Amino acid sequence: MKITIADAKLPKSGALVVGVLKGGKLPATAKALDKASKGAISKAIKASRFEGGKGQWLDVLAPAGIGADRVLLGGLGEAKKIDRLLLENVGGSAWQRLGNCGLKSIAIACDPVAGAKIDLAEGAASIAFGARLASYRFDKYRTTLKAKDKPSVTALSVLVDGPAAARKHFKALDAVADGVFMTRDLVSEPANVLYPDSMAQQCKTLSKLGVKVEVLNEARMAKLGMGALLGVGQGSPRESRMVVMSWQGAAAKTQPVAFVGKGVTFDTGGISLKPGPGMEMMKWDMGGAGTVIGLMKALAGRKAKVNAIGVVGLVENMPDGNAQRPGDIVTSMSGQTIEILNTDAEGRLVLADALWYTQKRFKPQFMVNLATLTGAMIIALGHENAGLFSNNDKLAQQLHDAGQEMDEGVWRLPLSAAYDKKINCAIADMKNIGGRDAGSITAAQFLQRFVNKVPWAHLDIAGVAWADQGKPTVPKGGAGWGVRLLDQLVAKHYEVGK
Ligand code: BES
Ligand code: MN
Ligand code: ZN
Repeated sequence: MKITIADAKLPKSGALVVGVLKGGKLPATAKALDKASKGAISKAIKASRFEGGKGQWLDVLAPAGIGADRVLLGGLGEAKKIDRLLLENVGGSAWQRLGNCGLKSIAIACDPVAGAKIDLAEGAASIAFGARLASYRFDKYRTTLKAKDKPSVTALSVLVDGPAAARKHFKALDAVADGVFMTRDLVSEPANVLYPDSMAQQCKTLSKLGVKVEVLNEARMAKLGMGALLGVGQGSPRESRMVVMSWQGAAAKTQPVAFVGKGVTFDTGGISLKPGPGMEMMKWDMGGAGTVIGLMKALAGRKAKVNAIGVVGLVENMPDGNAQRPGDIVTSMSGQTIEILNTDAEGRLVLADALWYTQKRFKPQFMVNLATLTGAMIIALGHENAGLFSNNDKLAQQLHDAGQEMDEGVWRLPLSAAYDKKINCAIADMKNIGGRDAGSITAAQFLQRFVNKVPWAHLDIAGVAWADQGKPTVPKGGAGWGVRLLDQLVAKHYEVGK
């Protein structure tokens, strides 16, 4: 779908979306339409329960006297509460309501509203961004879809006075949306199509944006001593990979920030095989890596003034004659040994080597890792927040705040020596499970054993990587969670000259 930002001139056809304030107060465009239609708009409002409240919508079909074929009134709530997120959701909901309405185009009017928390240009860009995020579809495998099952709308424009300023804001947001879409695509792809090497090939597509992409194969990783990661992949005929993506948007000497992702392209559990029902969900066990890749795409796409490293550990966890067994002991790149008591606790093994490698090679300002690490995380927080674990209060606070700002919430859980003790082991340096209690925390403690002094945060995204329930800007399916949050973290705190 094509999205443009255009001058505030009312369309002659198509669908037109206009905002209405709480109490039925009409901003400029709605007022003009009401006048042109001889009061049809206010009459429609009176004939319904629509009051301009946030999240309320009212369709007015074929009003006489105006060009548009239909008008959709969108409730904005109180003027003083209108902010970026609200407008993103307005754009997203407008798309959801009209994308398949039968018409070809949507225009969304963005009027100045006194007292709003966001300026006009940013507001218009936010509406466009929300609509773009909502328009995502993963239907490449639906070969029999009929035209009526696909969006009828092919063009959406946001109408605003002074569109140039809004276009400038939207350009950066559009790059972020490209990143979110890439993450959603990766998360949605089935594991027969997306496996370590094909995922590494996907990373390579970022080189056209100026990202340097290095792919480490098994021989290279073996040389580096990555026994923890390699052990997970050894039951799969598909070779494991590690991909290092570097975006240099600041001076070469500027210390980079680093993002590390769990990329288990399918998690059967291995010899500690998972139960059958629901196992198909484990195609998205590469969601952490998917977010890192989408984030790199977003940062490079908007030419962020930062040096950023993205590292993803890509493996497939399969049961096989060659698979690792419960009781096996592996040596990680750090030199620490691990007794594998459950081959289904594999993500932490992949991250152990990826984290160690990243801090050793790049000496970053911070490392944030993302992983669909534990089912226990879903029990604790459901699908509303990701779990946050960190050795650094400042980084944790920055992540928390960025999450609130982008509607990708994170909630911090504790780390401490008492939890750490649970993964001590009698015959190796540690074991890979800490028991049923506090399962997400002991997993995080495990990761922390592979992090030295560098500020670090672990986001357990098991509950948020996949959306069973959609939101205005997140259709059901691969959510692309975290790209916006981490892009915001970088934009707010880590870009130079900002
Ligand atoms: N990938 C899973 C965690 C997961 C489960 C993510 C459900 C999303 C939805 C992870 O590799 C895993 O299997 N974890 C085990 C750990 C246990 C064996 C200590 C779990 O959570 O059951
Ligand atoms: Mn597992
Ligand atoms: Zn897993």
